[in-house]
Amino acid sequence: MVSRRDILRTGGAALMGGLCAAMAPVRASEATRAAAMPRLRTSAPPAVVPYGAAVKTAKLYADPAYTNAILQRCSLIVGEGGMKWYDLRPDAQSFSFDEADRLAAFATRHRLELRGHTLVWYGAMPEWTKSIASGAEAGRLLTGHIETVVGRYRGVVREWDVINEPMAEKARSRHDLREGIFQQRIGPRHIGDALKVAASTDPACRLVINEYDIEFAGAQYRAKREAFKGLIMSLLDQGVPLHGIGLQGHLRGELEIDTHGLSQFVADIHAMGLEVSVTELDVIDHKLPGPEAERDAAAAARVRDFLGAIFAAARPAAILTWGISDAHTWVPMWFKRSDGLPNRPLPLDFVYRAKPMMRVIDEFRAYKV
Ligand code: G3I
Repeated sequence: MVSRRDILRTGGAALMGGLCAAMAPVRASEATRAAAMPRLRTSAPPAVVPYGAAVKTAKLYADPAYTNAILQRCSLIVGEGGMKWYDLRPDAQSFSFDEADRLAAFATRHRLELRGHTLVWYGAMPEWTKSIASGAEAGRLLTGHIETVVGRYRGVVREWDVINEPMAEKARSRHDLREGIFQQRIGPRHIGDALKVAASTDPACRLVINEYDIEFAGAQYRAKREAFKGLIMSLLDQGVPLHGIGLQGHLRGELEIDTHGLSQFVADIHAMGLEVSVTELDVIDHKLPGPEAERDAAAAARVRDFLGAIFAAARPAAILTWGISDAHTWVPMWFKRSDGLPNRPLPLDFVYRAKPMMRVIDEFRAYKV
């Protein structure tokens, strides 16, 4: 059994050996949780941190340049869509697995790891779910959904974002959760319930909670970071199965990274026995300068600050970007530039050439903490 002192010592060593200056030791109450948590990843960690990207399934089957970039650079993929409720659930009774099956077939054929995204999210819910009337009905639907979907991809999807973006936009405590339909009908226990159903459906699967806006400097983000940590601690205290935390990493060009706060967060999560992955990295660049070289350098610098702070505390289990090329990104859906120039949030440019961001990612992947 790991002692509290061991964990404090290990956490301290990781910090000292990292890229940043020494930081405060992990709090005892957090450290003690590590001993209780089973770790699923028992083999030696890979020599370099695995890199992957979110993919558009239709493009994988139709656009050779896109597919080649994915195959050349990625060892894991996640569907940008395809496994969300609104893709899978035309109605309360049935499932539509077309896209998810194509995604799984592609991953299997090319021996890529496939992350599952996502089982519980307030977003991408089909209209009909608004008419879920009671907690009992919501519970039945959620349980049935997780059993069916996790069961179908057992052995193919080895890691699920079971819970996506649970915290309210401006959360100040662990009780400030998103008002999705399951939160409204079932309440906060839907989170632990969902994780338990996923664990019993596929006991070998790694279960993750994914969140964004954890890394920036400023009171709003510090509060969200602490609130998120509070939620995780309370789940572990209740014995809920959980193996990792996903830092989405939708960085903003105009916002500084709180490198010290982020390192401390990662160290605390690690000391609880959980892995940390970067799951949706990109740089929202609508407020960065127009000239490409300047913009790409600024975006790469943000990624360097972000990864530097994480690696200073612990090696992440994986780094995934949300898309691979600027040609295919969600960013202009919400953050178009006022000068009309295209967004450049991703590691490869429009014709799949590596940008400075790709080089920063590769540098960190090879870094030994
Ligand atoms: O498939 C339809 C297409 O038939 C139609 O012509 C087109 C017209 O708008 O819409 C297409 O669907 C869009 C889909 O993306 C595919 O491009 C949806 O309207 C659009 O809402 C959907 O957006 C996705 C969004 O999640 C909601 O599911 C984005 O691609 C996807 O990048 C985004 O991903 C999220 C993560 O899941 C969670 N974290 C944040 C991240 C970025 O917002």
